[in-house]
Amino acid sequence: MELIIKNANIVGTDGKLELKNIVVAGGVIQQIMDASEQAALEDAQVIDAQGKLVSAGFIDMHVHLREPGFEYKETIETGARSAAKGGFTTIACMPNTRPVTDNPETVKLVLDRAKEADLVHVLPYAAITKSELGRELTDFPALKESGAIGFTDDGVGVQSAQMMKDAMKWAAELGMPVIAHCEDNTLVEGAPVAEGEFARKHGLKGIPNESEAIHVGRDILLAEATGVHYHVCHVSTEQSIRLIRQAKEIGVKVTAEVCPHHLILSEEDIPGLDANWKMNPPLRSRRDVEACIKAVEDGTIDIIVTDHAPHSEEEKERGMQLAPFGIVGFETAFPLLYTKFVATGKWPLAQLIQRMTADPARVFGLAAGKLEPGAPADLTIVDLETERAVDPSTFASKGRNTPFTDWKLKGWPVATIVSGKVVWSE
Ligand code: DOR
Ligand code: ZN
Repeated sequence: MELIIKNANIVGTDGKLELKNIVVAGGVIQQIMDASEQAALEDAQVIDAQGKLVSAGFIDMHVHLREPGFEYKETIETGARSAAKGGFTTIACMPNTRPVTDNPETVKLVLDRAKEADLVHVLPYAAITKSELGRELTDFPALKESGAIGFTDDGVGVQSAQMMKDAMKWAAELGMPVIAHCEDNTLVEGAPVAEGEFARKHGLKGIPNESEAIHVGRDILLAEATGVHYHVCHVSTEQSIRLIRQAKEIGVKVTAEVCPHHLILSEEDIPGLDANWKMNPPLRSRRDVEACIKAVEDGTIDIIVTDHAPHSEEEKERGMQLAPFGIVGFETAFPLLYTKFVATGKWPLAQLIQRMTADPARVFGLAAGKLEPGAPADLTIVDLETERAVDPSTFASKGRNTPFTDWKLKGWPVATIVSGKVVWSE
């Protein structure tokens, strides 16, 4: 199927918007020409993007789709649709399903369901340890063979340094990345929120910054020793950033990600005992938020991910102490970041797009993420003008668990194209 997107505002090489026509055929971008030139293709579907931004499709390398095992929270289909609605064309899903994605059959099941859904590209991660229990390594070669793109026990930290070192040795040998949820359990022990004013005021135990940074420091040393590509999940503390910055300076192969909520919210913003503000890592201090922002700006943090983590309303109503950690992210990510950082003049639009497209592609070696002839026709069309309030009842995700209800935002995706096919449009 041929497709022409007319009058697309694209971010040019100098960062300025340029008006172009984009010609797509065979699932690939064929040509990007001046909008004044006539793009002629027989029988082509034509989309007039007048006044809209067209970007390479967003890539989210950290998401939870819940299938198999927790389909009441989300399925691969509902998650993929939610991703498409948020402008994402490639997503990488975490293995903390039930069963855990610690075996080739489950990797294949995820890939099969994603194919059936036929919405966005879904790349599965496999677990580092069986059932993510931290006791026994999974079969890395078999998991790679079945289609896993990296190894992670996301949801929990790998507590044993020896286990992590063994995992890194295997992964390095296979040329695969290790993606780490950094958390030392001995420093956490059942705390639902970060250490700080909110925890004190409500008499809750607090999660200290060191619980994250200790693992980051340990793993950087292990990555240096093994030569593996080590990727740090959802960085949230000043201390972790300091360690990552130093490691990059001395040439350790380390990359890192941050979530929109850790760039926008601090523990001071939590309005009360509402578990829609509970996630792991937790909202930290304003100082940590500022450090995360600076780290995105200077490249210490390579990419932005959502950590889309849907839970049922019943689960989130159990209160701050008992509710599970996590918030949904696909459908608010770009509007939040655009409104808070680009519309306010803090970041160039090109920088935000790069951290959500070309940078994740670079870090994980993906063909997607570029808006140029020859690249996959994975595209996102965004309305940068219309302001709209976040309304969870309209989410394509089954999850409604967001702290951003009623926030007035701009930068809403209006159409998402995967391999040259419109998979979602308003
Ligand atoms: O907030 C979170 N939710 N953090 C995690 O590490 C796991 C995730 C989930 O699976 O719900
Ligand atoms: Zn996660």
